[in-house]
Amino acid sequence: MKELLPKIYEYINALSPKRRAHTYGVEKAAFMLAKVHYPQLDKALVAAAALLHDCTKELNEDEQLEAAEKYGAVFGDEEKAVCKLRHAVTGAAVAKTLFGLPDEAVSAIRYHTTAKADMSPMEKILYLADFTDENRKDELCRNVRKRYYENLKKDKCSAMDETLLYALEESIAVLKEECKKIHPHTIEARNFLKENLANEDNKRRFEQ
Ligand SMILES: [Fe+2]
Ligand SMILES: [Fe+2]
Repeated sequence: MKELLPKIYEYINALSPKRRAHTYGVEKAAFMLAKVHYPQLDKALVAAAALLHDCTKELNEDEQLEAAEKYGAVFGDEEKAVCKLRHAVTGAAVAKTLFGLPDEAVSAIRYHTTAKADMSPMEKILYLADFTDENRKDELCRNVRKRYYENLKKDKCSAMDETLLYALEESIAVLKEECKKIHPHTIEARNFLKENLANEDNKRRFEQ
């Protein structure tokens, strides 16, 4: 995986300065999250997933369609309806086809915008790192970053899932407020985490 990184950096350096800064910010945030919660993960793979997560974000609608055809990406109904969601699908296809990334990283890119139920460590890291990138100054991202550090202080074990749940619930609230559709994967992710955290909580109480 390490040998792929120069090719990935070359690709990323062709992006706009704003996208590049966000990309490196997500890489930094992903390293930090991996170090704290999943130190067993391959650092180069974490870097590759973070660096490529928005690699097609700057493509316009036509270019998204072209990339989908070229790299074999298939849009679901939600991606067909909302252009903003397409870069996760085309980005994952580019990561797989052009760079040969393994499924673990490809899936993290695929679900970095919507999340999904029962996320893997790599999927969780990328979803959260996209919010906690220090370059993002909007209210939602600032709140998620703040909440993560508060959760980390309280309990390192549950900090990741608690913050993911918070980020999902806040994102759903924003979409509702803006009268936008909520992707079913986002709702499933929220429900899965909610139930999982409640079960963990019950288990801990039972063991005390
Ligand atoms: Fe994205
Ligand atoms: Fe992003």
